[in-house]
Amino acid sequence: MPKSTKYTAKTPDHEGRIDYSAQDDAVWCDLVAQQQPRVAKFAARPFLEGQKKLNLPMDRVPQCVDLTESLLPLTGWRVAPVPALIGFSQFFKMLSERTFPAASFIRDREDFDYIEEPDIFHEIYGHSPLLADARFAEFSQAIGETGLRCGAGDYAWLIRLYWFTVEFGLIREGDAIKVLGSGLASSPGELQYSVEDQTAVRKPFDVIDILRTPYRIDINQPVYFVLNDVQQLLNACKRDLLQDIKTAQALGLHAPSFPQKKMAG
Ligand SMILES: [Fe+2]
Repeated sequence: MPKSTKYTAKTPDHEGRIDYSAQDDAVWCDLVAQQQPRVAKFAARPFLEGQKKLNLPMDRVPQCVDLTESLLPLTGWRVAPVPALIGFSQFFKMLSERTFPAASFIRDREDFDYIEEPDIFHEIYGHSPLLADARFAEFSQAIGETGLRCGAGDYAWLIRLYWFTVEFGLIREGDAIKVLGSGLASSPGELQYSVEDQTAVRKPFDVIDILRTPYRIDINQPVYFVLNDVQQLLNACKRDLLQDIKTAQALGLHAPSFPQKKMAG
């Protein structure tokens, strides 16, 4: 995530509800209307099935409390509004407690097609469908639990496993490659690019390889990792991920395939 933002967090009331403006609701409505046909075409089955289970409102910004009510019986996850930017230790702790930290603001019209920092469209439209799937719910919690065991110097390594799966992961479905990750599902441009662009590299899912792969948050990804099936993620949960981080650190980062500016992780 970027180091600064022009957006400010919105404060929930005593029931946890946020008073979004009519303009905010209109931005949500137009974003969903633009993105839904593309997601229907390019997203993987687990994402689309999660969407169906949650039946998010299309005409207004959803409330985290309502989403929590839907998610709790499905996977035990909650969604909690947080300031726009939180640190890794808080992020991993919340994941370990099956609580998803959601930035509460929604982008301005001028940022309609691209915003560097996560807004509530990314958080809810992008993330909540996989949180409704027990397998991704388990994987996300496992990332959080590993984060609790990490030292501060390990966070940037661990986050790559989250980045290249939950945020920007792809998965095979028959002969096709489909989008799983929230960063892609909520991106008007990168969604199609990630599965069709001829210059993007699509590597097989491999934990150590992922941990060693640097990324940038502000460009279309030059490298994606493709799961053969969701079982690969569940197998990753059973590994000693902290040991994997130590192995990756000993091997070192891969040379980045992009200019160095604003490298994260
Ligand atoms: Fe995200």
